[in-house]
Amino acid sequence: MVVENMGLDHIAIKVRDIERTIEFYRDVLNMEVSDRIGDRVAFLRTPSVAAESQHHEMNITQMSEAELETLEERGERELDLHDFEEDLPADGPPMLPTTGPIYHIAFEVPDYDAIKAAEEGLKERGHPIYRGPGRHGPGNNIFLYFPDPDGYPIELTADMEDAPEVGGRPARQWPQEPETWNVWGNSAELKDQ
Ligand SMILES: [Fe+2]
Repeated sequence: MVVENMGLDHIAIKVRDIERTIEFYRDVLNMEVSDRIGDRVAFLRTPSVAAESQHHEMNITQMSEAELETLEERGERELDLHDFEEDLPADGPPMLPTTGPIYHIAFEVPDYDAIKAAEEGLKERGHPIYRGPGRHGPGNNIFLYFPDPDGYPIELTADMEDAPEVGGRPARQWPQEPETWNVWGNSAELKDQ
């Protein structure tokens, strides 16, 4: 062992418009600003529902003008988050539309009802939903995927399998098939699970 790793603590992302991003994480994901540095950095925490709350789980940094120009040259300065929706196959792996290296950022919610409530709330806002609700094979966790304002996919997750240090089971090898990613298949059939 090189690092006495105690768990994932926070993630830092660069964004096109820090104020728009703060508003999104506050209004949709119930996060609050803990601190700011100047007008280009903000620290966000989940204050009310987290089992243990700490100063920040996210660090949001405004992209520089040079970075925004690079996006402009690539035609990615403005995003239409709905662009990807119709390209998503009905089943298959949850290949999420992201142009960057971050595939998704997952937040824990209490249960399936919370995921359904989030789905309804997002629909009311006209916000795109990329995938779910469904249940992954590995981890057995329920999921819902949608993008943040920069297109970073957000996952809401609940019910993830525990993995105790003592008494845990050996790692399994899952087949490369749609049911591995979503054991529920068509989520419309699944309300009571
Ligand atoms: Fe995930």
